[in-house]
Amino acid sequence: MSEAKIRASQKALDFILPKITQQTVLGIGTGSTVNCFIELLATHKNTFKGVVSSSKASSDLIANYDIEEFELNDVNSVSFYIDGADEVSMEKDLIKGGGGAHTREKIVAAASESFICIADQSKFVDQLGQFPLPIEVAKVARSYVSRRIVGMGGLPEFRQNFITDLGNQIIDVRELDISNPKELEIKINAIPGVIDNGIFSINKPNEIFSD
Ligand code: 5RP
Repeated sequence: MSEAKIRASQKALDFILPKITQQTVLGIGTGSTVNCFIELLATHKNTFKGVVSSSKASSDLIANYDIEEFELNDVNSVSFYIDGADEVSMEKDLIKGGGGAHTREKIVAAASESFICIADQSKFVDQLGQFPLPIEVAKVARSYVSRRIVGMGGLPEFRQNFITDLGNQIIDVRELDISNPKELEIKINAIPGVIDNGIFSINKPNEIFSD
């Protein structure tokens, strides 16, 4: 585990610990930074009710630590959602989905009262777009969406041998102009066949903790 990811996770944990109770349900993202967070959180598992997960990978780790997991459909509220990012801009816009879990991550983030991002310094950029933008697509729409993305100036690449937890495919897109992240997030999601894209701008994190 990277020291930088542990430090960012510890800061987020220190932020939420005084605010959680036995009734608190936390939302848990996906990725190597979140894995550090889960490990730190596990030592406090008796101080909150449980978690809602954003991926099968995180659920497996959560189960290993014997932390109670709930389905999002079965809880009334999620207090804090903690997740990593592939890129973080100065304006707190994110690119996520390197692990292909961004659709479920965006849902749990939206359903949470507060969105906390944990990202080491390597994730911070002046403008989003060096990291290829992941777009989750219905299998039947992959080529159509790719053509539409080319029409927008992007270079799409099909993520080989990868199916999301929701049963869809991912295209990773380079060369898009992401100078207006919110507008692009909305525009891409308006293409029929797109499930969701990895820009997190409509719902930005409330807090960002780094190393
Ligand atoms: C998964 C994600 C992750 O948050 C993102 O890829 C960052 O991962 P890591 O902490 O391993 O760098 O969006 O879909």
